[in-house]
Amino acid sequence: MSNEYTVSAPANIAFIKYWGATDLERAIPCNASISMTLRECVSRTTVRVLAPGAPDEVWHATDGGMTPADGAFRDRALAHLERLRGWAKTDRGLAVATRNSFPAAAGIASSASGFAALTVAALGALGVEATTQELSVLARRSGSGSASRSVMGGYVQWPDGDDPEAPARQLAPASHWDLRDVVVLVQIGPKGVSSLDGHRRATSSPHYERRQALIPDRLAAVRAAIEARDLERLGPVIEEDAIELHLIAMSSTPSIFYWRPATLRVLEAVRRMRHCGIEAWSTMDAGANVHVICTPQAEAEVVAELEQLDGVHGVIRDGVGNGPEPIRGSLFEESRS
Ligand code: DP6
Repeated sequence: MSNEYTVSAPANIAFIKYWGATDLERAIPCNASISMTLRECVSRTTVRVLAPGAPDEVWHATDGGMTPADGAFRDRALAHLERLRGWAKTDRGLAVATRNSFPAAAGIASSASGFAALTVAALGALGVEATTQELSVLARRSGSGSASRSVMGGYVQWPDGDDPEAPARQLAPASHWDLRDVVVLVQIGPKGVSSLDGHRRATSSPHYERRQALIPDRLAAVRAAIEARDLERLGPVIEEDAIELHLIAMSSTPSIFYWRPATLRVLEAVRRMRHCGIEAWSTMDAGANVHVICTPQAEAEVVAELEQLDGVHGVIRDGVGNGPEPIRGSLFEESRS
């Protein structure tokens, strides 16, 4: 067994959002969610197995070499390594090097791809077999609920069924429907309030219970639209759910305001485009950036229209993709300078 394993794991964009948890540390959600796994926004992670009892290490791999991780990410990664070690029944230390293809903590699910990658790479390096369902539950236990969806490709629901601790389930593979996600960057850099704080405050909003009541019908509508590959059915539901997440955030105590002026400009432009017959719909995770979901035919026009708006720093052209994949090479070697 080689003592290193490198993986590329995707971010995902939620169509119906996970917002609010009954147990935040273990990421037990108050509601089910559905997402599309992405292709371009990925975390690449190498895990190296160290000697028994050796202290764990967490590094960011950058063009200029390796920098030690710090703050909340380091704490969460170390706690997750401990958990994975327990699951794998080993006392080996683990060294991690990780790198994102996109700006971290900007409303693109960086912890989803990061913790999915960490989970898959650590078990791979330790040579421990796990089913996709086990990986989903383990990734969720990192505290990043959305990570439970990033271990699968295509269109994914989490949890599968009524048990809130159940793993995610793939509704359809990426090959089922070629949808695009034009990620419009209006804010690069960390958002002011983490998703964890957002979940914590969600139930304080007067709009929270109303959304909970609407979610079962929304989930059913999104599943049906995915099955029928019907963007005109999917679009209104995902836009409504995203706006409502932000309505809940804005009316939580204390209130959270993720939007920037350019967020609204993008939302308006997408509506304008629809009036001109372009099939494009907006959604946002907990951040200022807007994900515009559209057909391959509409993508170029959507990009051209949105990237010239005031306050837009750029766009990432993404689309539906597969789940985590082992890749060649080592981030430890790559970043040696
Ligand atoms: C708004 O607790 O999974 O993106 O760990 O920061 O990725 P991160 O967040 P997590 O909450 C995700 C909240 C959301 C909606 C969603 O992805 O379902």
